[in-house]
Amino acid sequence: MSELAILGGSKTRTEPYPEWPVWDERDVQAVTEVVRSGRWGGYPYPGPQTAKLAKEFAEMQGGGYAVPMINGTVTMEVALRAAGVGWGDEVLVPAYTFQATASAPMAAGAIPVIVDVDPNTYCLDPKAAQKAITPKTKAIIPVHLGSNMADMDAIMELAEKHNLIVIEDCAHAHGAKWRGKGAGTIGHFGSFSLQSSKTLTSGEGGILLCKTPELAAKAASVIDCGRPHALGGGPEDPNGLSVMGANYRLSELQAALALVGIERFPAQAKQREEMAAYMDEALSEIKGVRVMKHDERHTTRSFYRYIFAVDPKEFGVEHNVLCAALDAEGVGCWTGYEAMHNYELFQPQKSMLAVPNAFPEYFEFEKMSYPEATRACEHEAVWLDEAVFRAGPMGVDDAVSAIRKIQKNAEELNEAAQELRKKYE
Ligand SMILES: Cc1ncc(COP(=O)(O)O)c(C=O)c1O
Repeated sequence: MSELAILGGSKTRTEPYPEWPVWDERDVQAVTEVVRSGRWGGYPYPGPQTAKLAKEFAEMQGGGYAVPMINGTVTMEVALRAAGVGWGDEVLVPAYTFQATASAPMAAGAIPVIVDVDPNTYCLDPKAAQKAITPKTKAIIPVHLGSNMADMDAIMELAEKHNLIVIEDCAHAHGAKWRGKGAGTIGHFGSFSLQSSKTLTSGEGGILLCKTPELAAKAASVIDCGRPHALGGGPEDPNGLSVMGANYRLSELQAALALVGIERFPAQAKQREEMAAYMDEALSEIKGVRVMKHDERHTTRSFYRYIFAVDPKEFGVEHNVLCAALDAEGVGCWTGYEAMHNYELFQPQKSMLAVPNAFPEYFEFEKMSYPEATRACEHEAVWLDEAVFRAGPMGVDDAVSAIRKIQKNAEELNEAAQELRKKYE
């Protein structure tokens, strides 16, 4: 009988990893109080819970003017609109990210221009961005992916030189710091998701950190149906500063949950960071495993998912086979996103969206080439679930033992994978 759980052997990790989200009586109490108050919704904006969340989140992240809203996709659309980026403008986005990073510019009427990633971090490569800049480029959205940060020094230098708006997509980077500065406080905007898988969550939700009170006031108007807002995102400004908007307001119930999450966040982040350092050490001893480069300027790491790379030849199996086998061993993991140019949904004839149909020349994906993102997506990347890092050293030890066990049995696993492929071909 095989040693591997995927082939009928016993699991490395028998006890389930801890659940997410974490909650206790404080969450129940916070929601109950909002229910009893009768002030559930976001109108007038901001409600007391939402205003408190804006203040506490900006403090937690270390700067900026926070505007809470419904998710971490519209945050980017709103940022672009608040900055005056729109129809026909080009916005640089990385080839390796969730589709939201590219769909948000389209929602604002702008054209996402995809650029390749740095193989050391899988984040947007500033050199590739430089090459993609044209007179129409108005903004850049670096994504701090998994547990890494994009090179914010190079990106800000590029942005200053070419007068670009910088929106940091921080959906994975709550609590992260670059040279001691919070992710999302370096560019003009920081976009955060509070969706249920994120390390700070209210079920659904998003927060846009803005560099100036003026930008925050515009963002508040955009998410509040265009109503004028005072500088700093406060209530209505009688002097009038109105834009075209929609209802993207966060509800008070969600804001209350996020506020309890902020109380828990520092201890959780500390534990993840310690356990991930332990994981770095253990993985660096395994042949064919490449731990992502830890840039010294990335002074505080945060972990939405822990990403590492395998060299399929040296390690023994492709990343998708490793992930399937790891899952069976009881260790949650994933091969990660597809490369952005593989997303069919942006193709003009399929999406029926205004931007791809008006500018089809930007959406000829078969002509695009992103070797680094493609290698990560198709062969290398392994995304370990964050829960592994909340289960203490034993949680990490189990994941590492499972990876070693799979490597030891690579030959048998490859044969079985081949059989399986034949069966389904
Ligand atoms: C990199 C990235 N950007 C943006 C988003 C969008 O966030 P939301 O689901 O809150 O719209 C996500 C998450 O799902 C994400 O992973």
